[in-house]
Amino acid sequence: MEKKIAILPGDGVGKEVSRGAVTILQAVSERFGHTFQYVYGKIGGTAIDEYGTPLPEHTLDLCKGSDAVLLGAVGGPKWDQLPGHIRPEKGLLKIRKELELYANVRPVQYYRSISGISPLRKEVVEGADMVVVRELTGGLYFGKPSERTFQEGKASVVDTLFYQKNEMERVIRYAFELATTRSGKVTSVDKANVLESSRMWRETAEEIASEFPDVKLEHMLVDNAAMQLIKNPRQFDVIVTENLFGDILSDEASVLTGSLGMLPSASVSAQGPNLYEPIHGSAPDIAGRNAANPIAMILSVAMMLRMSFGLVEEAEAVENAVKQVLEAGSRTSDIASTGVFPLTTEQMAEEIKAALLDNEAIF
Ligand code: NAD
Ligand code: IPM
Ligand code: MN
Repeated sequence: MEKKIAILPGDGVGKEVSRGAVTILQAVSERFGHTFQYVYGKIGGTAIDEYGTPLPEHTLDLCKGSDAVLLGAVGGPKWDQLPGHIRPEKGLLKIRKELELYANVRPVQYYRSISGISPLRKEVVEGADMVVVRELTGGLYFGKPSERTFQEGKASVVDTLFYQKNEMERVIRYAFELATTRSGKVTSVDKANVLESSRMWRETAEEIASEFPDVKLEHMLVDNAAMQLIKNPRQFDVIVTENLFGDILSDEASVLTGSLGMLPSASVSAQGPNLYEPIHGSAPDIAGRNAANPIAMILSVAMMLRMSFGLVEEAEAVENAVKQVLEAGSRTSDIASTGVFPLTTEQMAEEIKAALLDNEAIF
């Protein structure tokens, strides 16, 4: 199979984990005989530095002309004082909007081999396996007006939470379809006791549920969901929620695995290409030190192989290689216990590559 993949490393550890992704893609093409063509584009702070804008047109064109997009992360302290419209994060929001990436799929999986890393007790996290489906192109992130005003000596500010009903329908439907392939339960998370938008969300979830008689729908208020997620995570299968709630809950859910560096994501568009990215950011506190965990990015590659290219065996091979190196005790510093000498980003990617190339026997 021949595929063209746009790679947007972005800023900070995004650059480092993107190299890890390519290491793994090379191993996949070597083992399974595929040809991947990589085209590189700039986004975020790196693009601001070079072109004065966080998402240059040619980067967007490059993505539109590719079969899938892989993104590292954007942002960092260097660009934190810039005005809202030219911040690195604006580039990410713009690419999500332009590619119509309406559903962000964030699986949260417990790994037995690193269960000791989670600050939560093993009996709480053991067996947790859920997917957060986050609406990605609406809500507070995109509503207008979003601005400050200064009138008669008083400063004010407004952000707008705006949704069209069809934007709710398509992401909720995506979550229900996903639930039919899993244990058949959707938890819709909202703040319907306060927000009108949440009341419409809840109604819409009920309507979509009537199309899926075999899927059980449950509603949960977001504050309770934040608590339930770490109190009793096994109760969840598919969580569907609006943009900002999904952003916050998925970072929280990463605590179940032990590190943000473990969680991949797929951002799905109706007409393609999809975009794949770890849920973490540019991690300025560890950037440039070859210390970031590349697993979130490598598992995002697996999601790309499965969801965009239909390469199921290849995706499973990558996921199994990750499991295998974790079981063998390989650790980057975020998942290392005290006393364990951590691997660099590059070493971890190389170990996963070696497992992928060596280990036909696991199938
Ligand atoms: P962050 O996700 O970058 O980091 C949070 C914490 O998790 C840090 O302690 C970091 O070291 C750790 N961490 C993150 N990824 C890791 C990895 N792969 N391996 C090991 N540890 C890892 O969040 P933040 O510090 O709040 O944000 C930093 C910058 O990243 C900000 O500019 C923010 O806007 C941006 N950001 C971008 C994205 C994205 O591009 N998708 C996502 C989140 C944050
Ligand atoms: C994420 C990030 C982004 C978001 C930021 C950087 C715009 O936190 O991808 O989770 O909030 O969506
Ligand atoms: Mn986030």
